Amino acid sequence: MRRAAVITSSDSGSRGEREDISGQVICEILEREGYQVVYRNLLPDERELLAAEMARIADEDIADLILTTGGTGFSTRDFTPEATQDVCQRMVPGIPEAMRACSMQVTKRGMLSRQAAGIRNRTLIVNLPGSPKAVRECLEYVIGALGHGIDILRGDAGNCGSSH
Ligand code: MTE
Repeated sequence: MRRAAVITSSDSGSRGEREDISGQVICEILEREGYQVVYRNLLPDERELLAAEMARIADEDIADLILTTGGTGFSTRDFTPEATQDVCQRMVPGIPEAMRACSMQVTKRGMLSRQAAGIRNRTLIVNLPGSPKAVRECLEYVIGALGHGIDILRGDAGNCGSSH
């Protein structure tokens, strides 16, 4: 079973002022898709904290996939993509490109998400925007392909040509 970690980046959420609905939506989709959610955390919008958490999960091999939500926009406190770039050894631009293309079929504001994705060791890290609606739209579009990428990363994949 593929293992997933969910990190929510939200100043107000980390102060207990807002419920983490987006994190909940991610968990629901992951579980429906057969992932085991092994870790979940809610952090303030702090680049160093977010980067350290992502690096720890990858370095201790806690999860095959880390999904973040929030902090991808233009607010002066939005630094999730930068934290992701800080810790990734290889970026995977196709995943955010696909999510933005899908998002822009729904709203032109989809172009405002700076979401990134990349690989650290054998863990794939993918940023999602902050709203529950955006999370659902983006994650449901890419989740199927993510599984194949994770299987290749973990060395579990068969023939790329056989199953799509
Ligand atoms: N993507 C989808 N699919 N649906 C949305 O409603 N909202 C956009 C964008 N991506 C949206 C979306 C908006 S309004 C913003 S500002 C950015 O995501 C960044 O969101 P964040 O700062 O909460 O991460």
